Amino acid sequence: MSTYKLFVLPGDGIGPEVMAEVEKIAAFLTKQGVATFEIEKGLVGGAAYDAHKVSISEDDMKRANAADAILLGAVGGPQWASVAYDVRPEAGLLRLRKDLVLFANLRPAICYPALADASSLKRELIDGLDMMLVRELTGGLYFGSPKEITDLGNGQKRAVDTQPYETYEIERIGRVAFELARKRRNKVTSCEKNNVMKTGVLWRETIIALHKREFPDVELEHQLADACGMQLVRRPKQFDVIVTDNLFGDLLSDVAAMLTGSLGMLPSASLGAVDEKTGLRKALYEPVHGSAPDIAGKGLANPIAMIGSFGMALRYSFGLGALADKIEAAIAAVLAKGLRTADIKGNASSTVSTAQMGDAVLAALRASL
Ligand code: NAD
Ligand code: IPM
Ligand code: MN
Repeated sequence: MSTYKLFVLPGDGIGPEVMAEVEKIAAFLTKQGVATFEIEKGLVGGAAYDAHKVSISEDDMKRANAADAILLGAVGGPQWASVAYDVRPEAGLLRLRKDLVLFANLRPAICYPALADASSLKRELIDGLDMMLVRELTGGLYFGSPKEITDLGNGQKRAVDTQPYETYEIERIGRVAFELARKRRNKVTSCEKNNVMKTGVLWRETIIALHKREFPDVELEHQLADACGMQLVRRPKQFDVIVTDNLFGDLLSDVAAMLTGSLGMLPSASLGAVDEKTGLRKALYEPVHGSAPDIAGKGLANPIAMIGSFGMALRYSFGLGALADKIEAAIAAVLAKGLRTADIKGNASSTVSTAQMGDAVLAALRASL
């Protein structure tokens, strides 16, 4: 039986609450002899700041580097609003992404039939939705320099963020999108703003050349990022794979989340390149949502995005696609039975807690093994 080293970073707010449900599932699978998950735990975000005055320690960076996969809950919260910018909670997550070169962020938005009424959109628009947003994760506005605020000395300040993209960065994320599309409905929508941004111009011409050279069999269309946001709420089922830059991907994935009913439903995988010698890749799995300070500590958080992220780890890091399918089926079964956390309550008469939802998914999984 294979052994997988998971480095678990629960983080802040609801992070530890939703992570606890994944730990239950991993422990169950280990006990059943399905696979052995060895869990090591570390600190990231505000939790790391409180312990070490950094957003992630060097020791935990080493352990993240050595793991087969990293699971991260969420970082951030109002109690760290005034800590220095470079040690704010979000910096720990950004460092993990950048230092491990996790350039490909896969954010699948699937609307489970039972949840079609929990979305703010009409059922017919989203019922059966299955799209994948591919977000570039290590370049662009998040990491470009200069990134600074200068005091102009006349009572005014000047802030600047910089968005750089190089051809190779666009090509490698484009390849991920085209390859995924080939295994799905074979369509890629590339999204930028080439009408106002130079990075948009390079993005579009690079994607067009890559398509012509390596993926002529895949249908390719282009949308301006603002129009793409509009189309996501107008007619979301037109999309199969969307590929876009770091900032637009951040915005559009929160929009896509509401198509599935709640941010608490959306998992994600952040992947590095496959090492040609070992066939392995660095990877971090995290829900799209944040630390949800408004509901933290109350047992109200939906653990499905975190459980789904663990499912993505099984699929993309461990080659356990069939087991990942079972986890997704267990989630669908629990939703079909009518179990709802508060965020997806819709018209339901009652709701369950984080732990009750996790236990129900685990019970459905157990029944399917
Ligand atoms: P958020 O995603 O934490 O919350 C947005 C809204 O969605 C809130 O009303 C929250 O209660 C709800 N929500 C989110 N996840 C939920 C879940 N699993 N179940 C039920 N409801 C859920 O975004 P925010 O409030 O803008 O940010 C809070 C903090 O989280 C900030 O510090 C931000 O930087 C951070 N953040 C972290 C990550 C991450 O760690 N990957 C992602 C986004 C935001
Ligand atoms: C996300 C989050 C992060 C981002 C923050 C917490 C740094 O919003 O993963 O979507 O902006 O990338
Ligand atoms: Mn975000």
